Amino acid sequence: MDTWKAIDSIRVVREFADRPIAEDALNRILNAGRRAGSSKNLQRWRFIVVRDRERLKKLAHAGPFAAHIEGAALGIALVMPDPCAEGAPLSVVWDLGRAAQNMVLAAWELGIGSCPATVYDHAYVHELLRIPDDQHCEYVLSLGYPADPSVLQAPKRPGGRASLSEVLHEETW
Ligand SMILES: Cc1cc2nc3c(=O)[nH]c(=O)nc-3n(C[C@H](O)[C@H](O)[C@H](O)COP(=O)(O)O)c2cc1C
Repeated sequence: MDTWKAIDSIRVVREFADRPIAEDALNRILNAGRRAGSSKNLQRWRFIVVRDRERLKKLAHAGPFAAHIEGAALGIALVMPDPCAEGAPLSVVWDLGRAAQNMVLAAWELGIGSCPATVYDHAYVHELLRIPDDQHCEYVLSLGYPADPSVLQAPKRPGGRASLSEVLHEETW
């Protein structure tokens, strides 16, 4: 799959087949994240892979829209230094977003779907995944083969994205 095709076709997947992700595929996905560029090349991201079904079920209570984690083959908690700490650089948020998008695209090429889950209950997730206090987890990425593989080829949702003219300004706002 070429880069443009992946970018242009990708959709989130929230319903997953009962099929594990092989180690080599997972390694590819994780390395895609690790390979992202970051501010000053500081690479201040950490990834927690969760495969244990009971822990995934608990992680699905991390927020009101996190239920898809429960049926995922695995979840990757995306962890960064707390961006709200005094003097913390916001670049960690950009960096982790880049790493996440790399993972999502690498997965899509392998026929593996994904969906972020926004964490609302940070204390709960910290305890569940034993995340240190100076770190922050805002998103968990669900990954798995789609329950309906046709979604990988599905036509784009009409109106799924704003048109370029709605978001683009030339020279000034
Ligand atoms: C930062 C971010 C947070 C998201 N959080 C959630 C979430 O908590 N639960 C969920 O089901 N989808 C979540 N999504 C997925 C979006 O709803 C999805 O990307 C959007 O609806 C577009 O869907 P599409 O890519 O299939 O067109 C999130 C996406 C992003 C980029």
